[in-house]
Amino acid sequence: MKLSAQTSIHLAPSLLSANFLALESELRRCEQAGATVLHCDVMDGNFVPNLTFGPPIIAQLRTATKLELDVHLMIEAPERSVANYAKAGADTITVHAEVSPHLHRTLMQIKELGCQAGVALNPSTPVTMIEHVLPLCDVVLVMSVNPGFGGQKFISSALEKLASLRVYQQSGHGEFMISVDGGVDLTTAPLVVEAGAQRLVAGNALFGPALAENFKKLSQAAGC
Ligand code: DX5
Ligand code: ZN
Repeated sequence: MKLSAQTSIHLAPSLLSANFLALESELRRCEQAGATVLHCDVMDGNFVPNLTFGPPIIAQLRTATKLELDVHLMIEAPERSVANYAKAGADTITVHAEVSPHLHRTLMQIKELGCQAGVALNPSTPVTMIEHVLPLCDVVLVMSVNPGFGGQKFISSALEKLASLRVYQQSGHGEFMISVDGGVDLTTAPLVVEAGAQRLVAGNALFGPALAENFKKLSQAAGC
């Protein structure tokens, strides 16, 4: 399904907060909680000061689930790797505007690989930086923390950015979905939805022993 067709508000559990020793059972718990998408944070230790996983883990997740795999590449020179993530089975590939000098070409590349294409913006990167490629985006991911770690505090300037994207969206500047990532919890979820977010990525607020209950409460807070 094209992301822009998924207009309802929904949660995307971020695997970064999962127990990496029990990925399959974490995956099943997400499915059972009602998730339709799994957010996969790929970090290279260069663009962000942390390392996570790469195509082999995405490929294994692909064999184990039909959930949409929403791959968030926090890596330098993403254009060199997008084909590997597409081959591994990513449905959506999001690259950071800050490390994509040829963003138009990279988005086209992702689409030609058969995936939905996304652009992520760090908290200090303005929406205007991607204005000209908005018609090519299937998703715009607003970072509401500085990328690299789960469990950080929500940066409230993300709300203005979400609102500005909604204006672009409503004025026919493209058919992208608005996603938000970082510090989404029971307090911030209603605020991001009010500002325009449609996909709420959440790690810390969901994972742990009470994932199903957390999913339900966060969904209610977001009005999903
Ligand atoms: C941060 C990642 C996020 C992160 C969100 O760099 O992109 O997806 O897992 O985690 P929480 O919800 O804990 O802020
Ligand atoms: Zn992410």
